[in-house]
Amino acid sequence: DQTAVTEKPKAVPTLPNAAKVTEVTHWTDRLFSFKVERPQTLRFRSGEFVMIGLMNDPDPVTGKQKPLLRAYSIASPSWDEEMEFYSIKVQDGPLTSKLQHIKVGDEIILRPKPVGTLVTDAILPGKRLWMFATGTGVAPFASLMRDPDVYEKFDEIILMHTCREVGELEYGRKLVEHIKSDEMLSEIEAGKLRYYPTTTREEFHHMGRVTDNLTSGKVFEDLGVEPLNPDTDRGMVCGNLAFNKDIMAILDGFGLREGANSEPKEYVVEKAFVD
Ligand code: A2P
Repeated sequence: DQTAVTEKPKAVPTLPNAAKVTEVTHWTDRLFSFKVERPQTLRFRSGEFVMIGLMNDPDPVTGKQKPLLRAYSIASPSWDEEMEFYSIKVQDGPLTSKLQHIKVGDEIILRPKPVGTLVTDAILPGKRLWMFATGTGVAPFASLMRDPDVYEKFDEIILMHTCREVGELEYGRKLVEHIKSDEMLSEIEAGKLRYYPTTTREEFHHMGRVTDNLTSGKVFEDLGVEPLNPDTDRGMVCGNLAFNKDIMAILDGFGLREGANSEPKEYVVEKAFVD
């Protein structure tokens, strides 16, 4: 049809680095997780984060739209065909006030440049790997807990996760349950994964902050394990700023040192996404 060509069709605006949403799960009124199709060329190390987001509303004067991006830990393991994210919902948060409404089939922006320090490359070999998380800080561990590499490198993996309320632990609890019951994952996990969830503001069988349970020695007693030892123990930390600061002081006190990709040591730290 020749005539149709003369009138050039307007290009449909598509998002840069668009990734299609395949699943959305709302865990509480403050927490949700979602999966997107993985860009075919994107490779990452379990525990890393990427920038994701949405287009901002058009500028009222210029009509221009800018991407609104935040750093999100990838919650799925590096072998997975989909990419999963775990997010807080902040009602007046610039991104999450909108992101919480995404539906299957929608597109988000996903910049394909994974980075981060919560990777096994950034810690020295050891016997036990401790994962210390508050709130959505469990996301990078959701990735690492499903990575065979972690189980090849460590004899024991202990996840300590603290939230205010029981419902906020559900995402992590279900994931641990899945790892221990799934045919393939349970074979890799081989009984190495220990889970120590606690709450601070609602009654639960184990309570108290990660930090307090370390300094009091309660977690070592409850799990029947030796206290942290820099010769054998490695740590990964992901939570709010105050938590990260406090736990670093505690790990330093046990004689562990902070490492980085360029200089692996006994523990690594990353800030959990906040708004
Ligand atoms: P708490 O209820 O005693 O403040 P938030 O939702 O504020 O990010 O907190 C998530 C969890 O992290 C809560 O259980 C909270 O305990 C805990 N938390 C907050 N700050 C610290 C900290 N500095 N050290 C240890 N745990 C903390």
